Amino acid sequence: MKKLLTIPAFLMVLILTAPAVNTAYAQQKKATNKAPAKKAGGAADIAAGQALLSKSDCLTCHKLDVKIVGPAYKDVASRYPATDANIAMLAKKVIDGGSGAWGQIPMSPHPNVTPADAKKMVKYILSVK
Ligand code: HEC
Repeated sequence: MKKLLTIPAFLMVLILTAPAVNTAYAQQKKATNKAPAKKAGGAADIAAGQALLSKSDCLTCHKLDVKIVGPAYKDVASRYPATDANIAMLAKKVIDGGSGAWGQIPMSPHPNVTPADAKKMVKYILSVK
């Protein structure tokens, strides 16, 4: 009799804990996926960045998911988490130009892009994953 009772009790424990473990895992996964995008700044900045970027010359050397002259924006986004430090560093690189991070081909400088606009463009780039 005792044995008959312990089996259903064991099953009950399994049934009750399995969804909890699944939910915890799903939440953890969601948190790691969402964290960088959340830090990237407001959706308004990202949308403005995308508009600025399509009006500038960026897309002659960059595509979203294939490398042409410059790295694919998805590759840039996977390399750098959207922290304030990375956004500032990459915005400066867009304005100053330069090489060495992805290869020997340099990015042309963009002295006419303001630091605020460069940051919006970078926020957009780091949001494309
Ligand atoms: C003449 C071609 C060219 C144009 C135009 C261009 N890029 Fe680039 N970009 C490159 C190359 C080449 C690299 C890789 C540089 C390196 O290896 O350090 C690069 C790298 C980058 C990176 C990553 C920098 C790093 O240090 O990892 C970002 C972000 C970027 N470009 C954004 C932009 C934006 C925004 C524009 C438009 C305002 C733009 N690029 C226009 C060629 C270009």
